[in-house]
Amino acid sequence: MKKNTRLKVSIVMGSQSDYKIMKLAEKTLKKIGVLFETKIISAHRTPQRMYEYAKKVEQNNIGVIIAGAGGSAHLPGMISALTHVPVLGVPVESKKLNGLDSLLSIAQMPKGIPVATLAIGEDGAINAALFAAAIIANNNPNIRKKLKNFRISQTKSVKKTPK
Ligand code: RP5
Repeated sequence: MKKNTRLKVSIVMGSQSDYKIMKLAEKTLKKIGVLFETKIISAHRTPQRMYEYAKKVEQNNIGVIIAGAGGSAHLPGMISALTHVPVLGVPVESKKLNGLDSLLSIAQMPKGIPVATLAIGEDGAINAALFAAAIIANNNPNIRKKLKNFRISQTKSVKKTPK
């Protein structure tokens, strides 16, 4: 990894169909000013693409990976097995089991290869972006400030009484 270069977040997903959820991660990172890239990589349909991507993560100055997948969601775990960069998994809602399959596949990684698992769907995609920004903020005071401002405006947006 190059020193003194701004670290990027890499958002990957197993299918175009995941993008309706994963674009919320993009939107959140944009709001906070974190650099990112977005790719479609399927662990089972494009295994070679996954391998080549994972092998270049560090040289491409990627500090965190957000990986979204649905069903038998092995993409986050497989990427984590091929890199030393933190991987945040977003379980995408599946048609048959409403994302419970995705959640368990991502959360139940056997010891030795970690994947931090977020909530199913939209909340997970947004929180993955906030989590990724918090990791980047450890070495980037500007991002830390923007994250703090995000929290302040979120707090202010909660009214004291309902209308
Ligand atoms: C997974 O299969 C993808 O992550 C997606 O959530 C799911 C369904 O993919 P498509 O059939 O919509 O391409 O690999």
